[in-house]
Amino acid sequence: MSLQNHVDRAWNILLTHAQTQKKRHLRDLFAEHPRRFEDFSLASGGILMDFSKQRVTQETLDALHGLADACDVAGWRQRMWAGEAINHTENRAVLHMALRTPMDAAESLPEGVAAVLSEVRQTLARMREFCAAVHAGEARGATGARITDVVNLGIGGSDLGPRMATRALAAWHVPGLRVHFVSNMDGADLAPQLLRLNPATTLFIVVSKTFGTQETLANARAARDWLLAGLPEAVREKAMARHFVAVSSHTEAVTAFGIAEAQIFQFCDWVGGRFSLWSPVGLALALAISFERFEAFLAGAHEMDTHFLEAPVRQNMPLTLALLDIWNVNCIGANSHGIFPYSQSLELFPAYLQQLEMESTGKSVDRQGKKILAYKTCPILWGSSGTNGQHSFFQLLHQGGQPIPCDFIVLQQPDFALPGHHAQLLANALAQSAALAFGQTAAEARAAGISEALLPYRTFPGNQPSTTLLLKALTPHTLGQLLALYEHKVFCQSVLWNVNAFDQWGVELGKQMARALLPALEDGAAPTSLDASTRGLLRALKEGGVDAK
Ligand code: F6P
Repeated sequence: MSLQNHVDRAWNILLTHAQTQKKRHLRDLFAEHPRRFEDFSLASGGILMDFSKQRVTQETLDALHGLADACDVAGWRQRMWAGEAINHTENRAVLHMALRTPMDAAESLPEGVAAVLSEVRQTLARMREFCAAVHAGEARGATGARITDVVNLGIGGSDLGPRMATRALAAWHVPGLRVHFVSNMDGADLAPQLLRLNPATTLFIVVSKTFGTQETLANARAARDWLLAGLPEAVREKAMARHFVAVSSHTEAVTAFGIAEAQIFQFCDWVGGRFSLWSPVGLALALAISFERFEAFLAGAHEMDTHFLEAPVRQNMPLTLALLDIWNVNCIGANSHGIFPYSQSLELFPAYLQQLEMESTGKSVDRQGKKILAYKTCPILWGSSGTNGQHSFFQLLHQGGQPIPCDFIVLQQPDFALPGHHAQLLANALAQSAALAFGQTAAEARAAGISEALLPYRTFPGNQPSTTLLLKALTPHTLGQLLALYEHKVFCQSVLWNVNAFDQWGVELGKQMARALLPALEDGAAPTSLDASTRGLLRALKEGGVDAK
């Protein structure tokens, strides 16, 4: 049988099974299987993954694993790890795992990883030195003042990861150094931050793999002007060397901007932006939490890598998470996926995952260049921290009538303990996933004293699937594990959906069009081929503002 026939057959088995299984209610699945929690949960390192509230049985898992086998997830995993150019549209290897591989693992490594390891270690050593110098007050500003504020200028993968992780690890910050993030092209992002900063004590990290990203360059130029204008003339010569470093793979563009080669931390082309937090893209994070803790963060990710590479398929957490998503999207009919960390420190996690997942698998052309017609791919990811979401959009999850799988991320221990808070937070996290799964029948509502007139409004259909990830605590190590778990999940999904997870051509068209439109906004020369709507809006912007119609 050809490979494609194998895959088609596995999809058919899964979809046939889904015909009956998708009608089943979690209430019945739990009633039938008292050991459901034990049989549908996994643990690795400091993470427990309970997927008993997913609408699956052992037969479902059999069918899903049949698909994983047919799609050769294990083979693709090996190809990635071996350094093959699996990002075929850019002819690039995908080696983010190498960024967190310790040197002592070198002997057992595939060639592709071993080849980059010494470069990785050298860069890490430079990051260590740089962090130590800033923390010790040795790396000072041009006037000799100590650095008190670091500003990360980057966008997308050059912002979301370090921003989220720096926020998440607030309990681990080095005192005396504040780390800020600016990403947006809108001056309303950078300008208010500059108002609060002192040029003499501020360090900018310009993070851009391409060093051609409009937003980052606009912010870097504005920051450079602000710095030069704010420093005494006598020290301006030293300004760029003391106040700017870059993380990039485009040395020429960085030096042309005015940052010397010695101030560049290399961003290798075998790391995708959204998988790059482990590289010098994590410099702001390392400065925020200390290099030693950054190393613990890398070690956590490495522990998950080892699990992903070695754990048997049925115990493999990233693969299982990916298969559950396939089940929900392709068999249950979910179009979106809620991410709910019951942790204020993880409030930016949903935004980070949006890029990781939607930029990776939000695609509908397969690896052979054909339009995918038979199945849907990436759902829309969204979410917020619990309990905030409960008082906002959870209404729709409970009674809106659409299947929306949810990930609950729960911390056993709080990172900021206040009397009475954590037990209540945990109670809410558990209550929500249970309420979503089991709902409330009319009989139960009646028994609880609800009047007949209100019964239709006070019943809850339930059967909303969720996975709960329970972390012992939010530490650099467990955060590393958690992020690597989702990275590998996305990789497995991309194999199952047969898309390239590591390119992002979909973001290019809008960028090109913005470049073409800019002159029309600056000096009046509009491109001739504009559509009527864009032409009308341009006219309104330039001529009469909102009254131009
Ligand atoms: O526009 C999308 C994107 O290319 C992302 O993939 C990337 O993370 C981001 O822009 C920033 O790119 P760069 O690091 O090259 O500035």
